[in-house]
Amino acid sequence: MQSDRLSSLLSLGTALLLVAAPLALPRDALAADTIKIGVINSTSGQFADLGVKINEGIQLYMKQHGDTVAGKRIELIMRDDTGPNPDVTKRLALELIARDKVDLLTGFVSTPGAIATIPVATEARKPTIIMQAATGGITERSPYMARLSFTLGQVAGPMGEWAAKNGLPTVYTIVADYGPGYDGEAAFIKAYTANGGKVIGGVRTPLASNDYAVYLQRVLNEKPSAVFAFVPAGRSGIAFAKAFNDMGLTKAGIKLITTGDIVSENGLEAIGDSALGIISAYHYSASHDSPENKALQKAYTEAYGPKARLDFLVMQAYDTMSVICNVAEQLRGDMDPDKVMAALAGYKFVSARGPVVINAQTRTVDQTVYIRRVEKRDGLLQNIEFDKIEPAR
Ligand code: PHB
Repeated sequence: MQSDRLSSLLSLGTALLLVAAPLALPRDALAADTIKIGVINSTSGQFADLGVKINEGIQLYMKQHGDTVAGKRIELIMRDDTGPNPDVTKRLALELIARDKVDLLTGFVSTPGAIATIPVATEARKPTIIMQAATGGITERSPYMARLSFTLGQVAGPMGEWAAKNGLPTVYTIVADYGPGYDGEAAFIKAYTANGGKVIGGVRTPLASNDYAVYLQRVLNEKPSAVFAFVPAGRSGIAFAKAFNDMGLTKAGIKLITTGDIVSENGLEAIGDSALGIISAYHYSASHDSPENKALQKAYTEAYGPKARLDFLVMQAYDTMSVICNVAEQLRGDMDPDKVMAALAGYKFVSARGPVVINAQTRTVDQTVYIRRVEKRDGLLQNIEFDKIEPAR
């Protein structure tokens, strides 16, 4: 079994041949008492601010629940893939499997790294649970992948339908030029045009650039009733929302409609009051009114202080740790890959976001999508939910 796994890893043709050698050695006695989780996060580079929030969610869960599950110690092995650098993500995944002998992989902030890990998960039969990367279809490409975040199609479709039905007859689309942008654009346009909306233009912006002035100038000339935008959360989202206002689009009566990435709670204060009124569709709002979310908010504030902002990334990382630990408990610590994947299929729980289920076919979550507006409440900019779309059952 171990040597099968080794040969399939080697067949990936990576430079990891050297570090893979220890796989042939018997596992040390201690390993049986430990569940090893390899976490590939992005704590430097373009997505560093997302990685910080993901780490907060992981640490919060561990702090609340301790590091023992089913009599075994949970060991987290943290790695930084430095942003959307698929070769680095893949190399780290291979190292964590071959050298550190992890039982499962998690993390994955961005789509390129998650996609690069698909063949690794499949060939090594390593349960790989995505905390964030949100392009549709990734988990369907490996029976060993699952996801606890969302997909762009899931949230952009409801935004399109809402826009068409709520007095926004013409839209210009602006999306980041990679997987989640393509998904968001396609889902938005499909739902928007099916409900009578007209798309009058669109552009895709480079992932590595956060300068949106040229594109927004073009929009000013086209005069749509709204812009539908997706760019990644963090510095891109903040730069986009600021430029939208600074370039005079709001003043010109053009509405910004988006997925929740641009208005992630962690970035709202940096955008400032020009965020007021932005409408978005998303699977989580930090202001969501439920006992589960109030409990998460309270624990989060106790751990990180009153100024720290809970956001979708904290919640998704927290949920992922909770699912991994609960599945380990259910399996009495037996992390056999097929047993883990069987336990994940159809796994249901009530998250701070609302009720969720890991779809047994797609291994990504079915969940409620909320339509929200940025408002100031208790002196804080917040996404306030005012409508919701339940998943197809
Ligand atoms: C992704 O790369 O899949 C991604 C990154 C940041 C987001 C959304 C999607 O805010």
